[in-house]
Amino acid sequence: MPDTLTVRDDRTGTTIEVPIENGAVRATAFEQLTDPASGHGLMVYDPAFMNTASCKSTITYIDGERGILLYRGYPIEQLAEHSTYLETAYLLVHGELPTKRQAEEWHYEITHHTLIHENVKKFIDGFHHDAHPMGIMVSTVGALSTFYPNATNVYDEEQRRNSIYRLIAKMPTLAAFAYRHSLGLPFNYPDNDLSFAGNFLNMLFKMVELKYTPAPEIEHALDVLFILHADHEQNCSTNAMRAVGSSHPDPYSATAAAIAALYGPLHGGANEAVVRMIERIGTIDRVPEFISGVKQGRERLMGFGHRVYKNYDPRAKVIKRMADQVLGVTGTSPELEIARELERIALEDEYFVSRRLYPNVDFYSGFIYRALGIPVEMFPVLFAIPRVSGWLSQWEESLLDKEQRIARPRQVYLGSPARDYVPVDSR
Ligand code: CMC
Repeated sequence: MPDTLTVRDDRTGTTIEVPIENGAVRATAFEQLTDPASGHGLMVYDPAFMNTASCKSTITYIDGERGILLYRGYPIEQLAEHSTYLETAYLLVHGELPTKRQAEEWHYEITHHTLIHENVKKFIDGFHHDAHPMGIMVSTVGALSTFYPNATNVYDEEQRRNSIYRLIAKMPTLAAFAYRHSLGLPFNYPDNDLSFAGNFLNMLFKMVELKYTPAPEIEHALDVLFILHADHEQNCSTNAMRAVGSSHPDPYSATAAAIAALYGPLHGGANEAVVRMIERIGTIDRVPEFISGVKQGRERLMGFGHRVYKNYDPRAKVIKRMADQVLGVTGTSPELEIARELERIALEDEYFVSRRLYPNVDFYSGFIYRALGIPVEMFPVLFAIPRVSGWLSQWEESLLDKEQRIARPRQVYLGSPARDYVPVDSR
């Protein structure tokens, strides 16, 4: 069986043979099929990248049909059970699980880059008390670039390493400071004795005690959530990271763009939107009425559906189990009961079944965050903290990929043809 695609342009009778490599054809192959009238080459139109691969990658694999998610080949369920977020971040960035020594060095570097320049606190102080923490994250992560001007040397490996340590390490600090600012509480500095997740809880919740001790179940639950959110191949924010990174700014600026992409309710903002939706529904008996509104197209069932998973999202399976465990410790909530009822009805309903809409990672994560005492506005921030390791792995891979250039899509122009300017009095 030849690995080629034969295409005949019926406008001209021209036939071309396009090689199929790794299950894909190159869109540029179609340029040679020209429009006899304009001489323009044929383009491939694909709004929202529905079937366009923008890169080759060795980082994350998803099989949406079978509900499989692998980081560098390792199933997400195994990483969630046996790994830690920092080890998983190393795996994403370096491609292999670390040896004991590599893990110690990595841990040391991340732990020793958690402090932020004191001037950053002044920006945070300038925000309103009710500023959304994702807005604060976009601004402060972008501002970090001004503190590390050498980071613009993106082809200097040492600079890239430093930026990777700093970004992974400082995200929790910035996030916790944004949270403390919203409450008017003093900032808590990092505690190097604690784990990555434990230190984040310390910076969020420490009050007047000398030493903060996180509850082990909560610390573990947060770490697993970080693992589950660390990467997800070419999603909206990763695409933003790669696209912005393709013009070679420093990675702080590119990460700020990725955070902005993650902020939207169709992406990382969905976990916040789920909890707000459940609050609006209010009681279990109103679930059928809500579902009927969704089916009539009045709104979406947030936390359901995925561009790639047409089967249960494997992350949602782990999270659902964890929600049961965490709420077993902290006590169940009426909201979780509403969520379970929504899921039960949706999974049986023809509308959702025929569109293959299943719970995604965001459907249950919000309830765990809530049980951990984290406010709703912080939910997308909790997505951004671990996702930075995925963004940076993808950014570095893209920079080192010889085939990549500045991201610059084409367009199908449907506007006015050339016309002469009309002075305002004659319009
Ligand atoms: N509730 C109701 N209907 C839905 C939903 C939903 N959550 N999601 C998709 N549909 C319907 C949609 O109306 C369309 O129906 P029809 O064919 O009759 O027009 C069909 O299903 C296909 O939807 P689509 O919008 O073409 O699908 P998409 O791949 O463009 O969108 C999505 C994917 C995740 C943006 C979408 O499913 C959605 O808006 N879900 C709710 C938001 C959400 O939970 N987002 C988190 C995604 S997972 C975290 C992450 O990786 O960012």
